[in-house]
Amino acid sequence: MIEITEQTLASLRQAVGKRMSPARLTHTLAVEDAVARLCALYCPQEEPLLRAAALLHDLTKELRLDGQIELARTYGLVLTEADIASPKTLHARTAAALIPVEFPHLAHPTVIGAVRWHTVGREDMTLPEQLLYLADYIDASRTFQSCVQLRRFFWEAHPEAMSPEERLQHLRRTLLLSFRMTLKDLVREGALISPETVAARNALLLLCADDADVGE
Ligand SMILES: [Fe+2]
Ligand SMILES: [Fe+2]
Repeated sequence: MIEITEQTLASLRQAVGKRMSPARLTHTLAVEDAVARLCALYCPQEEPLLRAAALLHDLTKELRLDGQIELARTYGLVLTEADIASPKTLHARTAAALIPVEFPHLAHPTVIGAVRWHTVGREDMTLPEQLLYLADYIDASRTFQSCVQLRRFFWEAHPEAMSPEERLQHLRRTLLLSFRMTLKDLVREGALISPETVAARNALLLLCADDADVGE
């Protein structure tokens, strides 16, 4: 049984703050705020775990590729050629792998899963995984056009005024839009696309199939 108190989170904020640049910390703290807001709408009981996951999610992001590969080796992660060619997504795997070793008091499946899948997504993401994924995309520190667009799409629909079922569907539609934008960007850049990202998008597309205005 893992108990995450305000004190646990305060210590974690300090610990991660020492291991990343000021800009990365600003983003990390903004993701913590964003995920807390999302938890209030969707699953208040998960807030402490998801705040911890937010604080940990980019812990290894600033490592260079050789550092990522070394960490992966340390933690027994098997890397494929495609993994090496997509270094931007590797940090989710290395960060998830180091949690049980460096932060055993936070090694809850919800924390590890949310960190593990926050970059590429996956088919049938759990609700906590979806919330960290979205928080990372729409946190208040993001200024990319697609992030601003998605943040507006989510909040300007006033999810707080929706019924629980409408709110859940609004989350799925927002995530579907995010995967659509991500896939378009990856194609435009000529980058590799993770099969998990395609699976995540397809699963959401099926769940939103009855929505008249969610076209491709
Ligand atoms: Fe990340
Ligand atoms: Fe992030």
